[in-house]
Amino acid sequence: MKIKEASFVGSFVKPEQFPDEMMPEIALAGRSNVGKSSLINTLLGRKKLAKTSGAPGKTRTINFYRINQNFFFVDLPGYGYAKVSKKERDSWGKMIENYLAKRETLREVVLLVDIRHDPSEDDRIMYEWIRHQGFGHLVVATKADKLSRSRQMQQMRRIKTKLAMPDSAVILPFSALKKTGTEEVWKLLETHLETSET
Ligand code: GTP
Ligand code: MG
Repeated sequence: MKIKEASFVGSFVKPEQFPDEMMPEIALAGRSNVGKSSLINTLLGRKKLAKTSGAPGKTRTINFYRINQNFFFVDLPGYGYAKVSKKERDSWGKMIENYLAKRETLREVVLLVDIRHDPSEDDRIMYEWIRHQGFGHLVVATKADKLSRSRQMQQMRRIKTKLAMPDSAVILPFSALKKTGTEEVWKLLETHLETSET
C-alpha cells in the first residue's frame, strides 16, 4: 500500500460523532498496551500519528485516521487495563458495542495479541465477538522482536488454538520496532479493502 496521505480525523465516543463519509474502515482491537497505536504508525510509516505510550490505557476514545482519502483506520480503546472503575469498563463496553454492531462501512476488525503471552479471557471474548460480527480473519501477534523465530512460531500456534481461530483465519507476527510483518499485514488488509469496492 502506497501511503500518499494519512491524517488523524478525531477522537469520538458516540456514533453521531463518527465520520459520515462512506469509506471502508478497518478497526484494530486488543488489550491496552498491546501495540495498536504502534501498529497504525508502522503501517502508515508515520512515527507519531497515533499516540503511543508505555502507560497502558492511553487510548480511551475511538480514534479515526483517514488514509489516501480512501479508507479509515480505527484505533479502538484497549481493554484489560486494571486501573479503571467498573463504570468506566461498562461505558467502554457500550462504546465498542455501538461501534462494532452499527458501523456499516466496517470491513474488518483485526485483533492484536502480545506474542509472548497466551490470550487472556478478555482476548477470547473479544475474538468471539469479532467473529460473531463476521470479522476476525486476521490476528496480529505483536512485539515479535521479543522472541526468537522458533518461539514466535510456537506461540502463534498456541494463540491460534487458544482463540479457537478457524483454519481460514490467519495469524501474523508483527514488530513495530523492527517493522517486520508490515508487508504481510498490508497484503491481507488490502484484500478486505478491495472486496469493499462494489
Ligand atoms: P492503549 O492505547 O493503551 O490501548 O495501547 P496500544 O495498544 O495503543 O499500545 P501502544 O502502541 O501505545 O504501545 C504500548 C507500548 O508497547 C509502547 O511502549 C510501545 O513502544 C510498545 N510496543 C508497541 N509495539 C511494539 C513492538 O512491536 N515491539 C516492542 N518491543 N515494543 C512495542
Ligand atoms: Mg493506543
